[in-house]
Amino acid sequence: MKKYLVIGNPIKHSLSPDLHNYWIKQNHINAVYEKKKIDNNELESLILEIKQENINGVNVTVPFKNVIIPYLDALSDEAKKTQSVNTIYLKNKKVIGHNTDIEGFEAAIKKINFDFNNKKIFILGAGGVVPSIIYASFRMGSSEIFVSNRTKSKAEKIKNIFNNVHIVDWGNIPNFDVIINATSLGLSKDDKINLDFSKVGKNKLFYDVIYNPSETNFLNTGKKLGNIFENGKLMFIYQAFSAFKLWHDIEPIINSKSMKLLD
Ligand code: ATR
Repeated sequence: MKKYLVIGNPIKHSLSPDLHNYWIKQNHINAVYEKKKIDNNELESLILEIKQENINGVNVTVPFKNVIIPYLDALSDEAKKTQSVNTIYLKNKKVIGHNTDIEGFEAAIKKINFDFNNKKIFILGAGGVVPSIIYASFRMGSSEIFVSNRTKSKAEKIKNIFNNVHIVDWGNIPNFDVIINATSLGLSKDDKINLDFSKVGKNKLFYDVIYNPSETNFLNTGKKLGNIFENGKLMFIYQAFSAFKLWHDIEPIINSKSMKLLD
């Protein structure tokens, strides 16, 4: 039986096993997908297990998407450019790191038919998923990208990867077409982002990477002000879709049942 894992810390709330095991069963694959909380000092032995084919694929989440890189034999272009890995597999005896968050974000934006071409994107946060969102946004034709983070030094670090992004002081809001919440603010229902959106205007896209709760205060504010809004559920599903396809060479079905697993 093949074995797949999602690693992170914390990992308790990950819904990746539910989704992957649903698709594994649906496609009659002899495999199991589990979650594992690990510490930094376990990364090396984990990679060895992949090399020995005791583990056949790994998804990586916070806080390991970047720190796992030195342990890998090679990176895909996307993983290299974002310095971020969320999917690992073995190819010709080499452990390869790839990034399906990019495809996940792009597929989600395509699905809602929002055109990023020539649009100004304002990203809140500077955590693990932000380089993927920036990469995908530029690939979809965005003209300018602004990043603001409570801890400014962390936002400045993103300029080492993408020197053409603009860093904005936390509290300031530049003119934008799309605003993306990539902070963890909103995971608790009562969380509020301490920014004043009252003057941003209408018909923008308010996008939240968070999908549980399905409507954060951030999305609710955008909605009340007359904007389009979308949560991160499709992005999550599509990043899993791409990882599944890579490992099993099968495109899993995305239907109401697979969507419901993430509620
Ligand atoms: P990591 O930073 O470990 O990659 P993450 O969940 O990907 O974890 O990122 C959390 C993001 O939410 C960070 O951008 C964090 O800002 P800091 O870098 O200043 O910590 C942001 N965040 C968390 N709590 C916040 C708060 N109360 N106000 C503003 N931003 C917050």
